Amino acid sequence: MSVVPSAGNGKITVPSILERKSAVSTQNSSPAKITCLTAYDFPTARLLDEAGVDVLLVGDSLGMVVLGYESTLPVTMEEMLQCTRAVRRGTRRALLVADMPYGSYHSDPAEAVHNAVRFVKEAGAEAVKVEGGERRLELIARIVEAEVPVMGHIGLTPQSVNAFGGFRVQGKTEEAGEQLLRDARAVEAAGAFAIVLESIPRELAARITAELRIPTIGIGAGPDCDGQVLVIHDLVGLSFGHKPKFARHYADVGEIISRAAAEYCRDVQQGSFPSDEESYHARAEKAGTLFAQRK
Ligand code: KIV
Repeated sequence: MSVVPSAGNGKITVPSILERKSAVSTQNSSPAKITCLTAYDFPTARLLDEAGVDVLLVGDSLGMVVLGYESTLPVTMEEMLQCTRAVRRGTRRALLVADMPYGSYHSDPAEAVHNAVRFVKEAGAEAVKVEGGERRLELIARIVEAEVPVMGHIGLTPQSVNAFGGFRVQGKTEEAGEQLLRDARAVEAAGAFAIVLESIPRELAARITAELRIPTIGIGAGPDCDGQVLVIHDLVGLSFGHKPKFARHYADVGEIISRAAAEYCRDVQQGSFPSDEESYHARAEKAGTLFAQRK
């Protein structure tokens, strides 16, 4: 496993993410919004890091977009650790955040802290993300106390899909909105350095963003958050099934892969791949007669 590069030279750190928020209140001008994308492997991490994405999140969404599960619930610690290590190897500038998978922080708090520490020690993550609001207050505080920065996540938290009865927009009533406001305050009070707001009304996200001192990172939460996050497979057209309306399509990599694979099959079947130029050759003087009969 490669080590975390030292801060400086534009390296994004937990304090530099927090500074983006304080810059708004102190300078009264808008600092650059925080950009965050998910990454699950080395080449994607390297491309996103070099493109200037601030935060790479090894989301447990990998269960759905990479492993083909129906939800994020089956994702294991080992799957998350392996992908986090791969992303670590491809990341130099971005802050690397790993999602704690379902079951890794839901029972024994000591085990939860142990699992959070594993992401840092064994996979090179610089922070972990934990879903849930008020009911995670103590847990987040314990993880932070163990020197692992925590990103919170409220709203449509996919690990609660069974409790929610599906992937539904949250916080649409006054009561639900008030609860999400309390959740956001609790996550901040627990010591989180940022919070993801997923699939909630724009107006509520704006209210939470205005109230919190830590940056909000929205996904399906409108443009008023301090930053935005998307699942990379949605962004580049590599995901199947339901496309949420906030998942803007910037490229159609799925179409490019399908076309390339179909052309490859055609070339192999027609005998035009590989060509002579794409083949190795033995030198006639060294090969003697061995290859002479073979054309
Ligand atoms: O798992 C994930 O990718 C996430 C983001 C969508 C915030 O939690």
